[in-house]
Amino acid sequence: SRFVSGIAARVYDHATVEELGRHATVPVINVLSNAEHPCQILADLMTMRERFGRLEGLKVAWVGDGNNVCNSTILAAAMMGMEMAVASPPGYWPDRKILDQAESLGGRTVVVADPLEAVGGADVVETDTWISMGDEAEAEKRLEAFRRYQLNADLMRHAKSDAIVLHCLPAHRGQEITDEVMDGPKSAILDQSENRLHS
Ligand code: NVA
Repeated sequence: SRFVSGIAARVYDHATVEELGRHATVPVINVLSNAEHPCQILADLMTMRERFGRLEGLKVAWVGDGNNVCNSTILAAAMMGMEMAVASPPGYWPDRKILDQAESLGGRTVVVADPLEAVGGADVVETDTWISMGDEAEAEKRLEAFRRYQLNADLMRHAKSDAIVLHCLPAHRGQEITDEVMDGPKSAILDQSENRLHS
């Protein structure tokens, strides 16, 4: 704290960044933990606002792993007055604690097993890797569990006609997202990636 003006910490265990926050006398910023990824979501919100001119009232659908990026998206949606629907296989749902926190912020989060249900009528459809940092040992089990949760053109047909697609990257083409969607006209992924610089 005496050497620097702030600490940006990318950690595995969220408790590490919380502990830093308790002891540091300078600001501590979480730049990714196993539980949350708030800085990424600033870029995501910026991209949504650029594309739609507003955030309030948008429906965001998350398909796949209820992971750190999903958790932070749920909290952001609650804070910004957006509707949030998550489709994940049982066992990979977002943290109960995050859902409770979102509710206390006035958020409405629907968690379902069926991707079609979550994506129906969505303005923004997001996904992320099925195997996050630290999940590598479970790779095989996860590839099987998430097979039905791929963001592909068929699934995108259920979103609104002007819906956009977001992915925090790095993406695994052919796993959580197809080339067709990643490189297609609905993809705002490169703007989203650039917006991490601006945000
Ligand atoms: N969920 C991913 C995000 C990478 C930016 C991970 O934690 O590995």
